[in-house]
Amino acid sequence: MTGLRSVPVAPKALPLVGHLMPLMRNPLEFINSLSAHGELVRIQLGPFTLVVICDPELTRQALVDDRVFDKGGPIFDRVREVVGNDGLASCPHRTHRRLRRLTQPAFHPARLPDYAQAMSACTEDVVGSWRAGQILDVCTEMMTITCKVTAATLFSGALPPGELSPVLNDVKTFFDGFYQRIFMISPLDRLPTSGNRAHVRARTRLRGAFDQIIAQRRTDGVDHDDLLSALIMAHDPEDDSHSMTDAEVSDTIVTFFLAGTETTAAVLSWALDLLARHPRIEQRLHAEVDAVLDGAAASHSDLPRLELTQRIITETLRLRPPGWIFTRTVTADTRLGGHLLPAGSSVVYSPYLIHHRPDLYDEPEAFDPDRWDPKRPQPPRHALLPFATGARKCIGDTFAMTEATLALATITARWRLEHLPGQQVRPALGLALRPRRLHMRATPRTDAH
Ligand code: HEM
Repeated sequence: MTGLRSVPVAPKALPLVGHLMPLMRNPLEFINSLSAHGELVRIQLGPFTLVVICDPELTRQALVDDRVFDKGGPIFDRVREVVGNDGLASCPHRTHRRLRRLTQPAFHPARLPDYAQAMSACTEDVVGSWRAGQILDVCTEMMTITCKVTAATLFSGALPPGELSPVLNDVKTFFDGFYQRIFMISPLDRLPTSGNRAHVRARTRLRGAFDQIIAQRRTDGVDHDDLLSALIMAHDPEDDSHSMTDAEVSDTIVTFFLAGTETTAAVLSWALDLLARHPRIEQRLHAEVDAVLDGAAASHSDLPRLELTQRIITETLRLRPPGWIFTRTVTADTRLGGHLLPAGSSVVYSPYLIHHRPDLYDEPEAFDPDRWDPKRPQPPRHALLPFATGARKCIGDTFAMTEATLALATITARWRLEHLPGQQVRPALGLALRPRRLHMRATPRTDAH
């Protein structure tokens, strides 16, 4: 391939560690700074060389060509430690289409009204336990909602309430140590430190709990009308060996639990944080939920009228995309933009970087849900990719939007959450971007509490 430029190296690399320090110290600032250096920029993270795609059109091209830009690279190598190679999010291109065909029916739009009922019931359950004046650990409360929703829609309650709490702790432990592990060189990741031990214990227990549920379901043979039944009964019209193997069901269940809980909890936590900082938007939201819900929990049929609520979720997904960085591995020599990428290269794409480009968004750091008002000029296509695009696009995108919208409406119809005086909210980077230590005081909006 002639006429191709080499990919420029981002400035300020240190010997041996490269750009590891800024990436660990202030990852969001670091990732955003890269677009000033070109459409593709090379970074060095200890032993890893990665090419970061800074341009929205090139990001789209890489995502759409998922045979050449296949799942892999440092993030997915770590993800595979827990979700295996056979899960929908981690499997390679060669096995992906069949798995996606088998799992897609579980997310058929016709199933959403039933899932929405579970979403509302779980949210009511959690917010109904809050007391006036209580200081809430918001991320934990939101994780409780999303874990309950996932357990209810995946297993229709096969995970008894007593077992939900240890699973929740294991999911949290897994996520807490994840970011540090991504760039940890072997054998450091196997040293018997308390962090490594807790991580391995959490992922082994999680797997054990889910495998037990799958085994029970395989034996009882009943259709429970939930996601797990949809997977176990999945039939591939293009392949007579039809159903999913135990390993595929198990990896996919763990994937759904991990992909669907922290992400949605993160967007809800950020939305509550941002609303408390923007009282005028909060007041308009209160007016909307009061008019639409009239005291009841939000239901699937309310969605078309929860317009502002949905725009708040979309804007939160833009400003603080839970999936902020992902890696790919290049499987054949290829060109991207004017550059040659040899087979074996590791590539990074970042919804966060794209969502914060000043050439794509006016005032990209401002929280402005009205930029999604269809009456206003809309940002260019591919400027918004919280759920990615192409064949590996999030399978749970509508599920997550429904869950987040219903939960935010139900929460804000009943409660107002305020920051504690002097509280600084910083991002914590796990696999998902979420607030670190967000404590807020809950005040009832009606006298019912
Ligand atoms: C706000 C919530 C969510 C966000 C921001 C989000 C984001 C994403 C993103 C960016 C990807 C692509 C990853 C990549 O390019 O490597 C993805 C894939 C995926 N997500 Fe989500 N997700 C969310 C919720 C969910 C939920 C609720 C589920 C399931 C119940 C789910 C299941 C998956 C799966 C299985 C994949 C892999 C799809 C495939 O490769 O075919 N996600 N998600």
